[in-house]
Amino acid sequence: MNNSNLVIFDTTLRDGEQSPGASMNTSEKLRIAKLLEKLNVDVIEAGFPIASKGDFEAVHKIASTIKGSTICALARAIEKDIDIAGEAIKPALSSRIHTFIATSEIHMQKKLNMTKDEVISQAVKSIKRITRYTDNIEFSSEDAGRSDFDFLCKIIEQAINAGANTINIPDTVGYCIPEEYGMLIKRLIENIPNSDKAIFSTHCQNDLGLAVANSLSGVINGARQVECTINGLGERAGNASLEEVVMTVKTRQDLFNCNTKINTKHIVPISKLVSSITGFPIQPNKAIVGANAFAHESGIHQDGVLKHRETYEIMLAQDVGWDDNKIVLGKHSGRNALKTRLNELGYDFTEDNDLNKIFDNFKKLADIKHEIYDDDLHTLVSSKYSDQPSKYFKLINIQSSSNFNNKAESEVIIFYQNKENKTTASGGGAVDATFKAIEKIVKSNSLLRLYSVNNITDGTDSLGEVTVRLEKNNVIVNGLGADSDIVVASAKAYIDALNKLYELLKIK
Ligand code: KIV
Repeated sequence: MNNSNLVIFDTTLRDGEQSPGASMNTSEKLRIAKLLEKLNVDVIEAGFPIASKGDFEAVHKIASTIKGSTICALARAIEKDIDIAGEAIKPALSSRIHTFIATSEIHMQKKLNMTKDEVISQAVKSIKRITRYTDNIEFSSEDAGRSDFDFLCKIIEQAINAGANTINIPDTVGYCIPEEYGMLIKRLIENIPNSDKAIFSTHCQNDLGLAVANSLSGVINGARQVECTINGLGERAGNASLEEVVMTVKTRQDLFNCNTKINTKHIVPISKLVSSITGFPIQPNKAIVGANAFAHESGIHQDGVLKHRETYEIMLAQDVGWDDNKIVLGKHSGRNALKTRLNELGYDFTEDNDLNKIFDNFKKLADIKHEIYDDDLHTLVSSKYSDQPSKYFKLINIQSSSNFNNKAESEVIIFYQNKENKTTASGGGAVDATFKAIEKIVKSNSLLRLYSVNNITDGTDSLGEVTVRLEKNNVIVNGLGADSDIVVASAKAYIDALNKLYELLKIK
């Protein structure tokens, strides 16, 4: 085992997708996986194949496409989960199966209704079954943070004997504090007789805001894999943020006797991609990837930075992919210039058709906006600008008017049920009127749970990105839309959410 290498196990596509409203389709997952590969993550947890046909397809597709990272599938310690996971990762050049079973008293008694011996034998049986598919095997003792220490030692020793070579210690409910979690890792490594045959891994949820601190404490105490997600996405309050873990280890090499292989220049582009696909905005003061992460407002700080950058900056913005959001292209830029810049930003276009479509949209936008920034390009490439999946509804046109003294009016035309449907509605503002008109045609009776608007760059001609979260029958979806007209962006986001909702609810 190379002790100086810290394995980065990204679970944005699995734990990250478990955030309410963050579900992604296969092509979105593949785009994220391609940037994760560029980022040079060691392991991509691509999904939980037993969960649905869509999850299986996504893992299989990622396993067939990505060659630079190990592709991992999650499986409960259950035969059929493992067989389906094995099938899903088959095409991968390098694959892993990650199996888990709960080991805390409360989970074993109340959830599994199993004795300790039954849990051990189930874990061992499952690990042995995984050897049919791969010898890269990860075992997680779910809720390890609240499990009995002696029992953890016993089950982990047997898991390693059965063939597990990565042992993950999840703080499933985000209950631990850093010193406690670090000590847990240290004591496990010291007390389990065969611990040298496996890499110990952290998996920390963020319920108390301690996921990154706990993970790093685990690393200081001997863990050599961190499970984490882009932007800290994940179940409930999220998981440890990849960018914070990686940059802490890189910046504080005086404290960590290990480092990652992450190509940190791709951090900001992937953070933006994940935010844009999931519709989860990045808070401006978020470490590393927030818009203000490298901005100095106070005069004293600005003065210090101008005199000597390191007075107030511990990292270089360029090292994590901030590039001052340069004006790179304009109205007169050609197809080749666009392709070159997109490649520099981490996008590959193997299909000429894809590039042609983006180039057309680029020209339309450049006509309105003249100066095109990198952030505009990220949005242009995303499906929220155009080419939204429109299995059920397609937005044909909107005409809206605002009025200082009276209600706003909106007329929308939507292609639905094989015909164009046109209607008008009035509302408190143009967006409200547009949503009412859409609902008049569609009659979805869904609940609007979130409406959020974000401008991509400065200026009133900026592209606006809108997220619309809808809920119906306990299914939650995020719809995304972008346009230089905020009413159009809002309508696109609403229609996108409706298409996703109808797809998931299988409404005819
Ligand atoms: O939080 C958790 O325990 C998990 C395991 C499956 C690793 O997600």
